[in-house]
Amino acid sequence: MHPISFLSFFSVFLSLSLAAPNTLNITVINAQNNHSTLECWAIEPGFQTSSTAGTSGTQALNLGPIGGPGTNASYTVLPPGFDGGRHNAPARQWVIFLTGLAHITLPNSTAEAWVPGGKYGVILALDTAGVSILGHVTRYPSTGETVAVQVPLGEGGVPGHVVLYEGGCVGEEVSG
Ligand SMILES: *[C@@H]1O[C@H](CO)[C@@H](O)[C@H](O)[C@H]1NC(C)=O
Ligand SMILES: *[C@@H]1O[C@H](CO)[C@@H](O)[C@H](O)[C@H]1NC(C)=O
Ligand SMILES: *[C@@H]1O[C@H](CO)[C@@H](O)[C@H](O)[C@H]1NC(C)=O
Ligand SMILES: *[C@@H]1O[C@H](CO)[C@@H](O)[C@H](O)[C@H]1NC(C)=O
Repeated sequence: MHPISFLSFFSVFLSLSLAAPNTLNITVINAQNNHSTLECWAIEPGFQTSSTAGTSGTQALNLGPIGGPGTNASYTVLPPGFDGGRHNAPARQWVIFLTGLAHITLPNSTAEAWVPGGKYGVILALDTAGVSILGHVTRYPSTGETVAVQVPLGEGGVPGHVVLYEGGCVGEEVSG
């Protein structure tokens, strides 16, 4: 084999075997027919090579527009065992769990999702009062605090995605 084709073969092999996953699968609290749903979405178009100062050359996933006039992000500390009760998403927002554990259930369904804080702690909550009568229930059963950063979406802020399946994401993407 010519040394150059050997090298390019090797680099393709390396990029296939060592590449970071090409997108993030996230649990979404969505709504259909006025009821909250749990769905697993893959964010599209996935990770791209950043050209932004400070992260240039690394893999970054665009989470879409956030904020807008009068909206604020918040950092919330939930005590161990906190019961958030049944509620609607106050706004369409990213909820990024930094630590702890969230257990999301739906009032008229057996669907549930477990979201551990950390690398895979990103969810979207979209079931605002206008689109879901009953909302969802969130409890925080860990023995330590759960910390969540809430970031409201901007106009048209729901990012590009593919719906992978009904229900919260399971498997590799939640075990980390
Ligand atoms: C959802 O239900 C509420 C309360 O019954 C109703 O006012 C609203 O119009 C419904 N929304 C949709 C999209 O069906
Ligand atoms: C956002 O923060 C500003 C400044 O503290 C406050 O005046 C405003 O009411 C907040 N907006 C919301 C929606 O909480
Ligand atoms: C749906 O959930 C609500 C709130 O928990 C409850 O009041 C209602 O009885 C439930 N309806 C059915 C059909 O289970
Ligand atoms: C996302 O889900 C797809 C389909 O289930 C799976 O092939 C892929 O490995 C998942 N990605 C991650 C990062 O877990």
